[in-house]
Amino acid sequence: MRRRESARERERARRADEEEHVADRPRIGIFGAGKVGTALARLLLDAGYEVALTGSPRQTALDLLVAVVAPGARVATADDLVAGADVIVVAVPFGKAPSVPWDAFDGRIVVDATNYWPPVDGHIAEIDDDPRTTSEVHAGWNPAARLVKSLNHLGYHDMEDDALPAGSPLRRALAVVGDDAEARAVVAAIIDDIGFDPVDGGALVNGCALEPGHPAFGRELSATELEGLLEAERVVAA
Ligand SMILES: NC(=O)c1ccc[n+]([C@@H]2O[C@H](COP(=O)([O-])OP(=O)(O)OC[C@H]3O[C@@H](n4cnc5c(N)ncnc54)[C@H](OP(=O)(O)O)[C@@H]3O)[C@@H](O)[C@H]2O)c1
Repeated sequence: MRRRESARERERARRADEEEHVADRPRIGIFGAGKVGTALARLLLDAGYEVALTGSPRQTALDLLVAVVAPGARVATADDLVAGADVIVVAVPFGKAPSVPWDAFDGRIVVDATNYWPPVDGHIAEIDDDPRTTSEVHAGWNPAARLVKSLNHLGYHDMEDDALPAGSPLRRALAVVGDDAEARAVVAAIIDDIGFDPVDGGALVNGCALEPGHPAFGRELSATELEGLLEAERVVAA
């Protein structure tokens, strides 16, 4: 006859399951502990992810800030963050993107959440004159990084308010574009876990639809609506 499990054994098994689940998930490192970085950190922590944040040199009391606004996230130096993250999110002001250590991102999945926003960033002549999307420009800084453009078209103030469980009829969709299909799938799973329906938009060049001033930017869309819009704007097939 099988012995009945004690409450302690059940609790141990539950914790082991939970730990295994978290270990299955990629560890996330976020460059930028500002509005986007901290809101995203909270969503990821709620979903059971391990999160590290790194800030700018100006943020001298980052430990205190993170303890208050994203408790549970680890504060890391840029080197530590890169060493300990499976997925890196770049959430720094667009003009500060060159200060992120792109050279260290070889082989890493990198989510580019930045937007070129001249009212905030000023006009940057090289970008104004470059026909590529800004994420293609960033991908060019390290072709060995597995760059995915996502999260950039969702306002930080909506991140927590609009997150809903899978299957909710009003669930909002977020696009994932990038030239590496496996990297897109990893990021899509994260998007789903934090409360949004991921939509695979295919190649990075298709991310033009997600940029400021373009159709998907900042819009509250269902997966079907976003798929249709990406299809209409698609530059190259998936
Ligand atoms: N705000 C939104 O709703 C929203 C939504 C989607 C995407 N975005 C895009 O996401 C990016 C971040 O936006 P945000 O609103 O979160 O900006 P933010 O509140 O200004 O936060 C960005 C943070 O990154 C820091 N930073 C600069 N260089 C860094 C580096 N090399 N390493 C680590 N941290 C660094 C900045 O510090 P300093 O102030 O010292 O530079 C600042 O604390 C922007 O590109 C924005 O266009 C914004």
